[in-house]
Amino acid sequence: MKLGVCYYPEHWPEDRWAIDARLMREAGLSVVRIGEFAWAQLEPSVGVFRWDWLDRAIATLAAEGLQIVLGTPTATPPAWLARTWPEILQVDAQGRRREFGSRRHYCANSPVYRQHTARIVTALVERYGAHPAVIGWQIDNEFGCHDTARCYCPRCAQAFRVWLQARYGTLDELNEAWGTAFWSQWYTDWSQIEPPFLAVTEQNVSQVLDYGRFSSDSWVDYERRQVDLLRKGAPGKFITHNLMGNFPDLDYHALARPLDFVVWDSYPTGYAEQMAMQLYHPDDPRPALAYDVGDPYVTGFCHDVMRGVKNLPFWVMEQQCGNVNWSEYNTGVRDGAVRLWTWHALACGAEAVVYFRWRACRFAQEQMHSGLRHHDASAAVGYRDVVCMADDRALMAAVAAMPCASEVAILSDYHDLWALSLQPHRKDFSYQRHQFRFYRALQHWGIPTDIVSPDIDLRQYKLVLAPSAFLVDAQLAAILKAYAEGGGKLLLGVRSGFKTTSNLVTDLPLPGLLRELVGVTVTDWHGLPPGVNYSVEYDGRGIEAGFWAESLIPDPDVDVLARFTSPPFAPRAALTARRVGDSGGRALYLGWYPTPDQAEAIVARVSDLAGVRRMAQPLPEGVVMVRRGAYAILLNFSCHAQAIEIAGQRVLVPSRDVVIID
Ligand code: GAL
Ligand code: ZN
Repeated sequence: MKLGVCYYPEHWPEDRWAIDARLMREAGLSVVRIGEFAWAQLEPSVGVFRWDWLDRAIATLAAEGLQIVLGTPTATPPAWLARTWPEILQVDAQGRRREFGSRRHYCANSPVYRQHTARIVTALVERYGAHPAVIGWQIDNEFGCHDTARCYCPRCAQAFRVWLQARYGTLDELNEAWGTAFWSQWYTDWSQIEPPFLAVTEQNVSQVLDYGRFSSDSWVDYERRQVDLLRKGAPGKFITHNLMGNFPDLDYHALARPLDFVVWDSYPTGYAEQMAMQLYHPDDPRPALAYDVGDPYVTGFCHDVMRGVKNLPFWVMEQQCGNVNWSEYNTGVRDGAVRLWTWHALACGAEAVVYFRWRACRFAQEQMHSGLRHHDASAAVGYRDVVCMADDRALMAAVAAMPCASEVAILSDYHDLWALSLQPHRKDFSYQRHQFRFYRALQHWGIPTDIVSPDIDLRQYKLVLAPSAFLVDAQLAAILKAYAEGGGKLLLGVRSGFKTTSNLVTDLPLPGLLRELVGVTVTDWHGLPPGVNYSVEYDGRGIEAGFWAESLIPDPDVDVLARFTSPPFAPRAALTARRVGDSGGRALYLGWYPTPDQAEAIVARVSDLAGVRRMAQPLPEGVVMVRRGAYAILLNFSCHAQAIEIAGQRVLVPSRDVVIID
């Protein structure tokens, strides 16, 4: 387990570098990420390179034994590039050109920008590809951040047409796949197709979904060109890109494919305000602890999403270590939080945690952002925590050597996420929130969970949850069937099997291609306003189903585990289980969107059915438990000490502290 820090030598006088490098080493840091925004300093005008300062910065850091992750600086094309070739600039969904002045202002499909990218990356890798202190490369910085995943410029329009031709072959196919019989959208020439923007009202959702796919593919393609150059020029060094947890705009499964492993940028208290909105419903109970330590379920979900994109260990490439500058209140963090975050990341599968950033910057956009050292270079709260972690390092190494092995998976598909966000049909229905509802329930039972693409081998899991497997093709149906036939337990949630992959409603009885597997037919579905509930009998008790409900007619061989008891759906089934194959497999269908408590009860029941190891009692709010190998790692994010019963032992976990049980 390595600890490191992000450093910007170009922000500090050169006579400070050696002092900083020494302080880094003394704090137990061994990795430094540099260079990811330094294009203007490296190439002040086209073709004129200045390597001397970066040579010296690397040498200074290396002299203290620090290992370097070098960024390619393509997130920040310099002024000379943007002014000479303004066609590299993005066009937003309102048709306005995005201007120079911050970052991420370029279009991934610009041929000119691709040439300049190849030039700077080639030059960098020729100079540092074999440098012994450079252990790996970070490509660009946070693809898609600041609403830049989709560009609407003429070059993107042209590339979209090419992408569509490759996908559909003929216009007839495209017209069919998009349902252009509606509102006279029939296309008779490829040149008539534009990106979906500036339309008067709702746009064709198949077209919009394809534009999302095309845009995501454009970044994958842009990234791959850099990967190819780096692989050639820096053999044996790792190549990665910093992702953003539950960021929804790019297909992270595809983006991760060419990388050795993924890294991500974790800002727990920033997310407390911003990202949590994506995962919680407005009226969900939320932990009060979010402001100064973050919400461990949100942070854990992001870690687990990041581990799941390649189903491999990951790094945190930017770990918050004090207050950020971009959330609403920018609450400071208290002593112990940075250590807790570091342990949490490690527990969830991080092989390195790199803090953002070394020292708070005195100028420009991020001057209000903290670092391990304050603006005046004195030690800040994060630095004190890192120093304290010296005592943890042996145990950290022992835990890091253990595999993360989850018995449960939640399926995740970015295309389902996009399709549901285009037509949520019920206010606040979101794919990620639905996943998170089950994830949080699993966390309460102390059940480690992988969040993975259905493409991976599902046989490693005892239980698979697909909260909304929305777009289904024959291949996905076959994967899920094979999983259950092999003895797996599969729980499908509402809205599964509703659509084809081109975002048209299936013409089969619902849930479409999954109907036979679950052995139920969904006859009606209601989005329920707040306060409207349908009564359900579950486990001999009366409960209320709200938000979204589906009435189910089971086949004769299917067990009914819950039933609607009030109109309009009574006496239809609400939760069913079908026996699949001869190996004990089950396919369950849950016909309503459970409340947090209901999700907890259902998760406990299906976990027991699947023989998944769980706590006897739910963990107290704010306490999470992760298993790695033989270790159980208990992390208490709450403000009070908490007593936990585990394996017949009573363990006291102090507030904002971690206890590891072997
Ligand atoms: C990240 C970004 C960094 C820095 C940081 C501030 O999203 O990668 O460059 O801006 O946020 O929190
Ligand atoms: Zn563009």
